[in-house]
Amino acid sequence: MERTFLMIKPDGVQRGLIGEVIRRVEQKGLKIVGMKMLRISRELAEKHYEEHRGKEFYEPLISYITSSPVVAMVIEGKNAVQIVRKMIGATNPLEASPGTIRGDLGVEIGRNVVHASDSLSSAEREISLYFSEDEIVEYKRIDEEWLYE
Ligand code: RTP
Ligand code: MG
Repeated sequence: MERTFLMIKPDGVQRGLIGEVIRRVEQKGLKIVGMKMLRISRELAEKHYEEHRGKEFYEPLISYITSSPVVAMVIEGKNAVQIVRKMIGATNPLEASPGTIRGDLGVEIGRNVVHASDSLSSAEREISLYFSEDEIVEYKRIDEEWLYE
């Protein structure tokens, strides 16, 4: 089954939105198979966002993401990467549709509540940046036979 990486950013944690984000993930029928709270080091932040090095928003992004704890999750489900990207909405909350996490809960691009992997290959890369194999659990959820045909 496909896996993706979802993270509640510092603003989401500080604003008390951990439960709201997790509620949406669970209600969609996605399975959380890994979860931890951590304070991201500068080193880890630079690895995570290496594709953006040199851009004008890079330094503010690194200081934002390392400013306070985050909640990192590994999410599993059929087409999990695409589904979670749709659920978080466009990068800029101004453009994110109502009904999406950023559209409903955020106001500014530099405080957009959540991160999610944008492809299968970034999902694999990001999961291995944040989680070791033994921190990911395999189990069956009782609703699975009613979610999938
Ligand atoms: P993320 O990686 O955080 O899930 O966001 P994303 O794929 O939707 O957007 P991405 O292009 O990867 O940008 C990473 C994060 O950098 C901040 N950003 N600021 N001021 C700006 O123009 C700007 N552009 C990007 C956002 O916090 C974005 O989530
Ligand atoms: Mg991105």
